[in-house]
Amino acid sequence: MKKILIANWKMNKSIEDSVAYAKKIKKEKFSKVDLSLAASFTSLEAVAKALQKSEIKLAAQNIGHLESGSLTGEVSVDMIKEAGCSQVIIGHSERRILLNETNELISQKLKLAYAKNIMPIFCVGETKEEKQNNQRDSVLVQQIKQGLSQVPDLAQKKMILAYEPVWAIGSGQIVDLADLQEVKRVVKRAFSLLAGNQYFEEKVKFIYGGSVDLDNVANFLTDDTIDGFLVGGASLAVENFISLAEIIENFNS
Ligand code: PGA
Repeated sequence: MKKILIANWKMNKSIEDSVAYAKKIKKEKFSKVDLSLAASFTSLEAVAKALQKSEIKLAAQNIGHLESGSLTGEVSVDMIKEAGCSQVIIGHSERRILLNETNELISQKLKLAYAKNIMPIFCVGETKEEKQNNQRDSVLVQQIKQGLSQVPDLAQKKMILAYEPVWAIGSGQIVDLADLQEVKRVVKRAFSLLAGNQYFEEKVKFIYGGSVDLDNVANFLTDDTIDGFLVGGASLAVENFISLAEIIENFNS
């Protein structure tokens, strides 16, 4: 099974830098890694062109919660699709926390992404405080339940679920494998209540994000708990991101 590896550039890179990165990574060949680049809105179209004839997917980092209309400053799902995206990050903790995105708003976005056949990379994760107060599981279940509440026929929908504990993002701290396995059990149970027992195994790709780098990525490959990674800091330099993909490609479990 191929592992997913998504570069989340966040609010970094000019159009020129984004295109140079895309052209460079396009020359690499991986048979066990499915790559995606989550570029900023202004670079999407140019990166889509640079990625033509490659299997690397293009993701937006957000979409507006309405289909079109009076929403100054937002970018719609149709617009990212027109620019060449097949995926979108929804519910990233930086947007939940810094821009007050609620589970309700995230649910509207997930519904729109599905309506337009854009694959969501749906992010969930607890803060440090929630973890310390033993609220991790209830927070995750609530994010999943409320986030998916407006998605019709969930049982038919594929998704990438990114578990990104907020305390691990950009901090150099990572989750232990035992905790990750426990989180997977918790989210699997939440999904089985929403969409049936088989749903998680059949339709959900469970990936991890939070300080993944060249030194720790192999730790996560020793069992089949996760299907891939969402990478911020360690994806910014193309050489680093290619090295991450090579470690995954060459890992013998
Ligand atoms: P990080 O970011 O790899 O820099 O921790 C991950 C993310 O926010 O998606």
